Amino acid sequence: MEKIYIIEHTPSIFGNVKVSGSKNATLPILIATLLCNEKCIIDNVPEIEDVKTTVELLLACGAKVNWNKKEKIIEIDPPQDCPTIAPYKIVSKMRASILVLGPFLSKYKRALVYLPGGCSIGPRPINLHLMAMSKLGAEIDVNHGYIKSQVKDRLKGTTITFPKKTVGGTQNAILAAVLAKGTTIIENAAQEPEVVELVKALRQAGAKIEGEGTSVIKIKGVDELSSFHVKIIPDRIEAGTFLGLAATIDGEITIKDAPICHMESILKKFKEMGLEMKYDEYEDIGTIYVKKNKRLKGIEVSTEEYPGFPTDMQPIVMAACLKAEGCSVIRENIFDNRFVHVNEFIRLGANISVEKNTALVHGVKKLTGAVVEASDLRAGAALVLACASAEGKSYLLNVEHIERGYENFEQKLALLGIKIEKILKKEEELEKLRKIGK
Ligand code: EPZ
Repeated sequence: MEKIYIIEHTPSIFGNVKVSGSKNATLPILIATLLCNEKCIIDNVPEIEDVKTTVELLLACGAKVNWNKKEKIIEIDPPQDCPTIAPYKIVSKMRASILVLGPFLSKYKRALVYLPGGCSIGPRPINLHLMAMSKLGAEIDVNHGYIKSQVKDRLKGTTITFPKKTVGGTQNAILAAVLAKGTTIIENAAQEPEVVELVKALRQAGAKIEGEGTSVIKIKGVDELSSFHVKIIPDRIEAGTFLGLAATIDGEITIKDAPICHMESILKKFKEMGLEMKYDEYEDIGTIYVKKNKRLKGIEVSTEEYPGFPTDMQPIVMAACLKAEGCSVIRENIFDNRFVHVNEFIRLGANISVEKNTALVHGVKKLTGAVVEASDLRAGAALVLACASAEGKSYLLNVEHIERGYENFEQKLALLGIKIEKILKKEEELEKLRKIGK
């Protein structure tokens, strides 16, 4: 049985929505508990598939996990001894599992990690992760789809210069360097808030790190880490997704617990479209009041590393441009193949042409419902926005992608007035739907 969404045309939306904890802040912080010696507590943890998968991974590493889903709190007792294996069935589900490499090598001196594959947004190489580990002195052997690695004695501090900014690569290098001998300098480090939050948690446990949020991070290795108790920041991409919804469908919504301090580039672009928003720009986390009662204007946007416009918002802002006035130019500079959603938008009646890493979106007056497929988390969310603004009924397949990173997504949307229902369909029924659609 497969889960699909049935989404009907929604003329307007109204109401409140609360932003959940950030998926991309939660995953590395959960994995960082492997470095600690005592129980760690993490608050505001979103109940999403990728967190479930990470908990599975921690259990496989010998950790004890107590997840109070109602209170959104996870308590983790790190393992005394750890098998340091990240198996195929887990890594193939979630490529962020590769972040166990740093802790395995830093604390346990050995690792056997299944090589994460690509996904719909590109090949997703991990060469920069491996470069960082070998610079720190790990022996790396990649064969038969596995990364086999070991450390003689202890990782040694060094200078790691990333040729391009990588969020996961920076996080893995930090997770490896915190227990290395000596000092590590990471140059051209990623500056995303999810890197900063990981450093704050490690520092609470006794790590000596400075420079997070800048492109140079300095880490002085320590002998051991105690524990941390942190609260996960709200998800800036989920907040941006609801801004995208408000830019796609007329109405008035209130987005609570939005991490305004991490959304400057997102807010700027929706303002350029003409979306009416009210919020206190001096509040780190606050409420955004959004109103739309007219056709918005198309824009030009290029994805960049933080603090630039996030690649994860690219499908979302494209959804908002489908019926905007004029032509929008959307450039994807981070991933090689992050336009898989374009064909699905075209099936809904959008007018989009793609040339290399640039999509030209000519605003249309109307979209019409169709059978469409989610290819990844953000494309799936963007398709929900487009289907809700399309006339008639749409069927969105592969919604498990969305459940990986959006907590209670259809419930939050339904409370705003979106006509959405999740149902189970047999594979043969899906085939029929796909045939209608194609
Ligand atoms: C993180 O992925 C996020 N995932 C992604 O969010 C996000 O899109 C991405 O950062 C960029 O912001 C998590 O945090 C779990 P990268 P990551 O390493 O770390 C290339 C979502 O929707 N690269 O910053 O894997 C890579 O191919 C997900 O939540 C190498 O070439 O991204 C890409 O072109 C989707 N070699 C660029 O760098 C490497 O070893 C940036 O990737 C690593 C990356």
